[in-house]
Amino acid sequence: MDNKAWAQEVAKKIQEKEIEVIKRSVNKVPYIAKNGVFDDLSETRLGWWTNGFWGGMMWQLYQATKEPIYKEVAENLEKKMDSVLMDSSVMDHDSGFRWLPTAVANYRMSGSKESRNRGMIAASNLAGRYNAKGEYIVAWNSRADWAIIDCMMNLPLLYWASEVTGDPRFSQIAQAHADTAMKNFVRGDGSVNHIVEFDPDTGEMVRSYGGQGYEVGSSWTRGQAWGLYGFALSYIHTGKKEYLDTSRKIAHYFISNTPESGLIPIDFRQPADCQLEDSTAAAIAACGLIELAKHTEGRDSDLYKREALRLLQALDQKRSMWSPDVDPLLEKCTVAYHEPSGHEITIIYGDYYFIEAVMKLSGQE
Ligand code: GLY
Repeated sequence: MDNKAWAQEVAKKIQEKEIEVIKRSVNKVPYIAKNGVFDDLSETRLGWWTNGFWGGMMWQLYQATKEPIYKEVAENLEKKMDSVLMDSSVMDHDSGFRWLPTAVANYRMSGSKESRNRGMIAASNLAGRYNAKGEYIVAWNSRADWAIIDCMMNLPLLYWASEVTGDPRFSQIAQAHADTAMKNFVRGDGSVNHIVEFDPDTGEMVRSYGGQGYEVGSSWTRGQAWGLYGFALSYIHTGKKEYLDTSRKIAHYFISNTPESGLIPIDFRQPADCQLEDSTAAAIAACGLIELAKHTEGRDSDLYKREALRLLQALDQKRSMWSPDVDPLLEKCTVAYHEPSGHEITIIYGDYYFIEAVMKLSGQE
């Protein structure tokens, strides 16, 4: 079976499961699941950074199946999140994760003026987080001196804002942040830091932190995946070859550390006796590798595609709950190395990126 045929078969399994899951989840904003049942953050944590992924899943499924229920749920979620846009305490750099798969996806598909407006408010807020001295985007509201690798995935919101308005400032900020990240996050061996602290007055880099990984200097796998995919996206939006080269450098580090099984640990440098995994890292890295395969040629392109497939096939065969009776899809997703309650659970963005990767390969993205 060729790769596309394999992906189409997995896409069919996804569709058969999700059409049952959605029937009992229409009013939810899921994050994790307990005993196979999605939780619901709509009343308790509407400002949480992961809340756009459910909408993104809905748009991916709508695009593939044209089932109206997916569109309705995605549109309702987008509206529900309006109160968040007006709450500075929960607006942070994750505007991209929240409004790209919801408002921007809707705008791209329908041209909705309301959706464009939401995307622009989110993008303006993100641009406002820029520290001009240090040339970085502040991640969280509690630390004006911290930037994190995850932010690479929020930059496409700024590229989009420049594309639709013709105003280059959004893209300029995104590129300045990406340039800073290339210099201060990406290490010589292609691994990346999770958190970097800067002096917010002078812009000097102060130190790095292990963040959600094992320790300072280790390599949290989801962070590697955010960097791999994020730099590839910056390349796609700007055509700047150094972003492509940086994504490839991270990809080669990721590939050379991927175990034989294709299953990804929480941190590539976690202690040898720790077997804990994070399926989200595998799904996100697969998305990035698929993009790299499209933008490279020959042997390298083949390598990226082969490695993306290896990750996705391991998830399909060993880490997917295909029964329509349980809500989540991917198992063994992990929040952070030092957070035992978040070890090897189900997390909505694991499902989202797995679906995104499969849809990319099957031609239904
Ligand atoms: N952006 C936070 C995380 O990846 O857990």
